Amino acid sequence: MNDKEINIKFHEYASLKDLDANDRELAEAAIDAMKGSYAPYSHFNVGAAVRLSNGVIVKGANQENAAFPSGLCAERTAMFSAGASYPDKAMVSIAIAGGVMGRLAKAPATPCGACRQVMAQYQLKGGKPMSVIMVGDGQIWKFDKVDDILPLIFDSI
Ligand code: THU
Repeated sequence: MNDKEINIKFHEYASLKDLDANDRELAEAAIDAMKGSYAPYSHFNVGAAVRLSNGVIVKGANQENAAFPSGLCAERTAMFSAGASYPDKAMVSIAIAGGVMGRLAKAPATPCGACRQVMAQYQLKGGKPMSVIMVGDGQIWKFDKVDDILPLIFDSI
C-alpha cells in the first residue's frame, strides 16, 4: 500500500485591485452578472462570467424555478450560453461571485460539483487550461486550471 497526496496550489488576493487587468475585468463582470440572477426561492444571487479565447466575455446568472431541479446555476448558464454562441472558441477563464439578496458575500463563491464537471468538459473541448476565479468581498481565489478544483476528473468515455 502506498499513501499518496494531492496538493492544490491557488492564489489569494485581498482586493480586485490586486488582480491583473484581464482577471479584474472578468471578476467585475461576474459581480455585475449577479444583477441577472433570478432567485426567488434561495435569495442567493450568483453571477458568472466566462472569458473566451478571442477576449469576449459571456455572462450568466442563476435561474431558479418552482420545480427546483429545472433551475440552473450561474456558472452553467454562462458556460452553456458561451458554448452555444461561440462553439469554436475555447473558454480560458471563468469568474464567479455570489451573495444573499444581491450583496457580494465576504467568502469567495465556490462552484458546485456539477458546475465543476461542466467546466472540466469545456476545458477539455477548448484544449487549454481554464482558470477559475472565485470572488468574495475582500478575498479572491484564483485556480489556474479546473483540475485544481476537480482532481481526478472524469473524462474517460
Ligand atoms: N448556485 C449557483 O448559481 N452556483 C453554484 O455553484 C452553487 C449554487 C445557485 C443555485 C441556486 O439558485 C442558489 O445558488 C442556491 O443554491
